Amino acid sequence: MLLAHLLQLRGIESVVLETRSREEIEATLRAGVLEQGTVDLLNESGVGERMRREGMPHEGVILRFGGQSHRLHLSELTGGRSIMVYAQHEVIRDLVKARLDRGAPLLFGVKDVSLLDLDTRLPKIRFHDAGGATCELACDYVAGCDGFHGVSRPSIPSRLRQDFTRIYPFGWLGVLVEAPPATEELIYAYHERGFALVSTRSPQIQRLYAQCNPQDQASAWPDARIWEELHARLAGGDGFKLTEGRIFQKGVIAMRSFVVEPMQHGRLFLAGDAAHIVPPTGAKGLNLAAADVRTLARALAAFYAEGRSDLLERYSETALRRVWRAEHFSWWMTSMLHRFHDESPFHHRLQLSQLQYVTGSRAAATMLAENYVGLPFGDN
Ligand code: DHB
Repeated sequence: MLLAHLLQLRGIESVVLETRSREEIEATLRAGVLEQGTVDLLNESGVGERMRREGMPHEGVILRFGGQSHRLHLSELTGGRSIMVYAQHEVIRDLVKARLDRGAPLLFGVKDVSLLDLDTRLPKIRFHDAGGATCELACDYVAGCDGFHGVSRPSIPSRLRQDFTRIYPFGWLGVLVEAPPATEELIYAYHERGFALVSTRSPQIQRLYAQCNPQDQASAWPDARIWEELHARLAGGDGFKLTEGRIFQKGVIAMRSFVVEPMQHGRLFLAGDAAHIVPPTGAKGLNLAAADVRTLARALAAFYAEGRSDLLERYSETALRRVWRAEHFSWWMTSMLHRFHDESPFHHRLQLSQLQYVTGSRAAATMLAENYVGLPFGDN
């Protein structure tokens, strides 16, 4: 949706195919943290109005361990950059509205999508529309923005791509709670019983996460167990107390790192989860997808406006530089903040030392902060 929007601003036509319904994509809960660069991109492209009104800018983030909170002043450490808490499905709603207001093509409920002739100058997409009719679209380029389970990545012959994967031995239980915020800034907590994260969605709704077994069903987590774990993992001598409220949504999120190289094949360009997955710690997934399509939109614009294909040819190389930085950061945050089932006391001491260093050294804190708010875009 963001790519289609950025292309339209440059006068480049596109058709967006979505397998789900508008109601479904506007209601699916996902991430909530926008990097500075993502905020800037939404603002500059004219879809940031509601985000500016309803989003919550945060200038700091808290790491909690040993029963104490340690604040990292993000904006001071990064020359004024910060994050915005604004849910991904709200961004989606803003982009759907912008597209429909302009009368640009956006087809919901399509099925049986297949990509053809990707290594020719006239690739095609075949699909069934919501009414069941067989359709074929011929185009200059295909952007594969269809997620980890989509058809785009497997359309690249397996001998021409390399997959990099890491599966983590834990997941996150995520809940939504009707309660006022217990903290003004996000808390990432490391505790012997496992990781916990206190985030927010609005002054009335809080988003909480707890490390869990990746095989757990949400039903293994009755409300009383959730509160007991969260209170224990966030407890400390400073009197911090999580505010309880009605839990009205629960789900378990699996955690993996994944990258495919290259992110392009012929006239197909992959973006977002179709090409890479990060574990949620550090909130990079949405932001990486936004960075991919920013790069792709600029490359396509250079092609149509100036006849230059060098940026398109370098798309994968350019995007992968940022992808691997975010892969490393997400893996590093995940490793520092979670308990591993095969962990030794030695490993536990290393994690505590790392946390003390990151919160005690300006150099180390700056490393976390500049990755967390998002490194500035290169000139791609
Ligand atoms: C949220 C998710 C994250 O993965 C994270 O690191 C911070 C916040 C959230 O959903 O609010």
